[in-house]
Formats: sequence, C-alpha cells, structure tokens
Amino acid sequence: MEITIKPIEKIEGQTRMPGDKSISHRALIFSSLTENTVEIEGLLKASDTLSTLNCLKELGIECEEKEKVIKVNGKGLRGFTEPVNVLDAGNSGTTARLLTGLLSGQPFHSILTGDDSLRKRPMKRVTEPLKRMGALINGRKNGEFLPLSIRGYDLLPIRYTLPVASAQVKSALLIAALYTGGNSEIIDHYQTRDHTERALQYLGANIEKIGKHHIVLKNPAKLQAERFQIPGDISAAAFFLVAAALAPAGELYIEEVGINPSRTGILDVLKEMGADIRIYNRREYNCEPVADLLVKGGRPLKGVEIRGEMIPQVVDEIPVLAVAGLFARGETVIQGAEELRLKESDRLRSISLELKKMGALIEELPDGLIIQGGTKLSGAEFESHGDHRIAMALSTAALFAESESVIKGVETVRISFPDFFEVLNGLAH
Ligand code: S3P
Repeated sequence: MEITIKPIEKIEGQTRMPGDKSISHRALIFSSLTENTVEIEGLLKASDTLSTLNCLKELGIECEEKEKVIKVNGKGLRGFTEPVNVLDAGNSGTTARLLTGLLSGQPFHSILTGDDSLRKRPMKRVTEPLKRMGALINGRKNGEFLPLSIRGYDLLPIRYTLPVASAQVKSALLIAALYTGGNSEIIDHYQTRDHTERALQYLGANIEKIGKHHIVLKNPAKLQAERFQIPGDISAAAFFLVAAALAPAGELYIEEVGINPSRTGILDVLKEMGADIRIYNRREYNCEPVADLLVKGGRPLKGVEIRGEMIPQVVDEIPVLAVAGLFARGETVIQGAEELRLKESDRLRSISLELKKMGALIEELPDGLIIQGGTKLSGAEFESHGDHRIAMALSTAALFAESESVIKGVETVRISFPDFFEVLNGLAH
C-alpha cells in the first residue's frame, strides 16, 4: 500500500496517542502471571501487541475483550499449558525476547518463531544467559536465531551484567528470575527503559534498585493487581512532536502520554534543538509517570549531538530525530547507535538511503549518522523497508518537502500505530 503526502503549513489540534507498546506487552504478560482477573485499559491494539496476546492464548490464558478494556484471567506463575501450535511473535522483538524468558521457566516444550525480519534478529543475547540459568534452548546458529525450541525447568538465579543496551534482554531475565528459588541481580549500565521493573513493583514483587544500575529481584514472588492503565506511547507521539516543532505555525496538545524518564530523551533532544515543548498535568498510572504535552511550531531548530548515555533514551526515535536534524540549521551528529542496525530493519541504512532521495546530505557511519540540515529538499518516492518507524519518520519528512511525496509499504504502520495516517490527516493543515 502506498500513500501520497503533501507539504503542510502547520500541525494544529488536540489528540491522544495509541497505548504505549512496551507497557502494553508487559501489562499482558504480567496480568497472565497474577492469580486473578486484571482489567487492562488503553492497551495498544496493533500487530505487535496482538502477537503477545495470541501467544499467551496459545499458552492457555483466557481473555475477554470489550471495547476499551481487556480482561486477562491470570493463572499464576505456573498456570500456563504446553502449546499445541508453534508460537508466532510476528514482527515483535519484545514478544520474542520477553516470552523466551517466560518459556524458560515452564516445565514443558514450546517452539517460538517470527516473521522474516524477526528471524534475522539476534536472540543469543537472551538465550545465552537463559541457558546459564538452566533452560534448554535450541535454535539456528546455536540459539542466535528464531525459531527457538525451549524446554524450561526450575531455573537458577543469575547475577548478570547486560553486555548490550537492551530492555528486552533485561526484561526476559527478570521474568525468568521469577522462576528461580533465590535472588537475581541484573546490572544495567545503560539505563534502558524500566517498564518491567515498574510493573513488577506495581504487582508487589520484591524488586529493588540499588543505585543507578543495579536491580535485585527476590523470590518468592506473588504478583497481584486489579488493573493496568496504559498511557499514550511517547514513541508514537515522537512523530507528531517533531512535525509540530518543525511546522512554521500551529500548536499541538497531546493528552495522556507516558513520560517515564527512560523514554523522554525525545523531549530533551527537541528542547535542546530549540523546540517549544511544555509538560502539563503530571500524574501516575501503575508506577508509570504520565502527562499532557504541548508543542508550538514556528521556532527555528538547530542541529545537536546525540551520543553516549542518551542513545538508549531515544533508541526508537532516532529515525525521526534524523528528520528533525534534516530541517534544523547546522549539523546533527548521532553516534553510538549501532543497535539500530538490529531493529525491524537496519534503521541507519534505511533512513539514510531514503532521505537521500530528497537530496538530503546524510553520511552513514558504522554507528550513527551525520546530517547536514537546513537545505531545501524535494519530495520523493520512498520505501518503508517493511519497518513501521521508518514509514512514519519518512511521512514526517514528507510534510516539509518542497513537493509531494509517495511512501510505499505503509501498511507496516499496523505494527505499532494502525491509525497513524488518520491522526496525521486530522492534525496536518
Ligand atoms: C523495547 C526495547 C527496545 C526498543 C523496542 C521496545 C521494550 O529494544 O527498541 O522497540 O519494550 O523493551 P531493545 O531492548 O532491543 O533495545
């Protein structure tokens, strides 16, 4: 499917974003680990979170879906049943990695696979420490790639320093750690998103953070909750924050967005670039900070440097930050972002390849991008590379080109933001 995008004057209006994808996956998984029925409100209904839901159903979890709420009948840590079918994580790395952690603790056999893109993404980062905990896992290239065959047992506690910046790895290990008889310790020097830690805290697990980097999970854990409320996804909001900030005029108010500090790098970077962003109505849902955001257009933006500790805070926003850099004055440098090559597509390659079609001056580095901003750019015919965030970042760039653009393969937005183009149409003028 392709879509045509015309240049705009302003982004104007009030809107909400779909539920946070990371929190939605965790709400589904952790609700199924409680011993009661949990109501989840605001769940992201998109292909990735449906992959998690379908896998949980294959594992014997029953759900009742109403319009705004989904009720998950938790069965406790040991209530899953051996799946008859192969579990399919689709395009979702979060589903694949978190469920590998969960399945490692189950006393039965399961097979987990995914789509063409996911079957190329690295899994050893989770299978290697899970094998150390005692799980039996086989997969291509010694457990590097899906499909994985997993046979779990009572696991051994682990003390593990994350070798890569990955919240998915940290979360898989914390879930597996619930199936051990002792205390596990995870050291996360990168400060990746901490939704799993917050969810476990909300559910009453004995989890503690010592200093900035050290997480301790003590057993036994009995998880309990009646409700999860999912805030809007700041990674979905990022496209509109950038569009509203780049627009010559207009004001955009986004209600109810998750502002977990491990995810708000996008706000910090845009403010550093000169954007006018304000935060209102701070509140909390299930240990997650939430607020409304206001962005005003018409401010000139300037280039920035994004590197080091900042990278994990903006890991999903780099494609759209590259777009912001493209229309800002001066140079934007992104470094230390080699993990982007291992996402739904090689995002450093796909974003630079596509933006060059507009005449953009972008240099691709092994671990980042150098973008020369502020030149006039023409519309182009873009490819999404089957990657939802690339499709949405290119759509954002197309709003500020000198002529109209066509984006091919836009059906991929169903992965995280099925209504993206409807929301954009409502706000772009
Ligand atoms: C996610 C963690 C990040 C992120 C992904 C969602 C999560 O991946 O890019 O979109 O929900 O834990 P990594 O853990 O591979 O960095």
